[in-house]
Formats: sequence, structure tokens, C-alpha cells
Amino acid sequence: MSRGAPRIAPSILSADFTRLGAELAAMEAAGADWIHVDVMDGRFVPNITLGPFIVEAVKRSTRLPLDVHLMIEAPERFVEAFVRAGASTVGVQVEACRHLHRTVGQIRDAGARACVVLNPATPAAAVEPVLGDVDQVLVMTVNPGFGGQKFIESTLPKIETLRGWIDARGLNVALEVDGGVAIETIGRAAAAGADVFVTGTAVFGAPDYADAIAALRRAAS
Ligand code: DX5
Ligand code: ZN
Repeated sequence: MSRGAPRIAPSILSADFTRLGAELAAMEAAGADWIHVDVMDGRFVPNITLGPFIVEAVKRSTRLPLDVHLMIEAPERFVEAFVRAGASTVGVQVEACRHLHRTVGQIRDAGARACVVLNPATPAAAVEPVLGDVDQVLVMTVNPGFGGQKFIESTLPKIETLRGWIDARGLNVALEVDGGVAIETIGRAAAAGADVFVTGTAVFGAPDYADAIAALRRAAS
């Protein structure tokens, strides 16, 4: 399976939550492919964001698929709730899963795409045993918890390694990056093999969302 066309997934963490519906409509009109939703529990990461209740409201506000990134301890407790709320993809941090293979199966059984997420210091080998059982791998290019951080360049070889395994095995697995993805960094992530790009600040902080998405797409191609 060869690499897909670059997909841009704006992270609503950087949206104006006083007008979330309008922000989602604007991102959809601007050409976003997916909406990325960052769920934080104040334990796995030093920040708290939102739960299934908000995901359900996001689902009612956009036709775009929701890419839900769980930065929470023991995420198996909430998989079904987020799928019911409208998640198309559920991503779990491998560091937070005691039984990763079981949790991946649980996500698919619930009816969503299964994504496994690696922190910057977690090696690619942590997901190698489940590569044939997932729909997506997400390589964190910052330490999770906050938007607006600097892209960590030392994650690039890990992206290359995963791209190599996915292609060598002919797997239909999307390879996503998240954190500090902007015009200056997206080209390197794409060259390393990523095909889905989460962007918070780089789109929601831009004066024109459509221009920002188009420019990112060009830089990734
Ligand atoms: C970080 C989140 C990211 C973040 C990306 O914990 O997982 O999705 O919102 O924001 P930027 O693009 O600003 O780094
Ligand atoms: Zn995220």
C-alpha cells in the first residue's frame, strides 16, 4: 500500500471555544480533511481539556471525520463512550495501555479506526507487534499536553522507520504526526514518510484558514 495524499487535520485545541461551531464550519469550508480532538486527563499529561460530551457537540457541528487523540491513563475505560460520541478514529498512547493489543481490538470492535500513539521518547518498536492490527500510527513530534510547542527533529528517524515497515509489509496504515507541524516543519515530516498532519497553531493562528491549509498541503506534497 503506497502512501496516501497528504491529509490535514486541524486540532481544535487551538480553536476559539466561545465560537466552536463557527470555527468548525470555517475549517470545513477551508478544506480541512479531518478534525483532530485532543482529550487530556490531567494525569497522563499535565493539562485537562474535554470529554465525550464536547466530542458529541463537535460531531453535530461538522461532517468531517473526527480523529480523537486520547492523552489519558487507561484509555480502555472510555473507548466506547468516544465512539458513541462520534469518533471515526480513536488514538491511544501506547505508554498508557497495559494491554495494547486488546485495546486496539476494542476500538475496532466499537466501530472506529484504531490508532496507536508514540511519545517522542518511545521507540517505534513499541508498536511493531500491533502494526498489522491498526489503521493508523501517530508519532508525537512534541511532548503532549499543550499546543504551540516546538517540533522535535529527533522524531524524524522514527517516522522513517515506521514508513519503512508499513511499505515493506504492504499495510494500509496511515502515518500521522502531531505537534509543531507548520510550514517550516511539515516538509521534513512528509519526506520522512508521514501522510496525515495535525496542525493547531499553524491553522487556527493564521489570518486565513484556507490559505494556511493550502500552503501546508503544498509544502507536504
Ligand atoms: C499536543 C496535541 C496537539 C496540539 C498540536 O498535546 O496533541 O494536537 O494541539 O498543536 P500545535 O500544532 O500548535 O503544536
Ligand atoms: Zn493531538
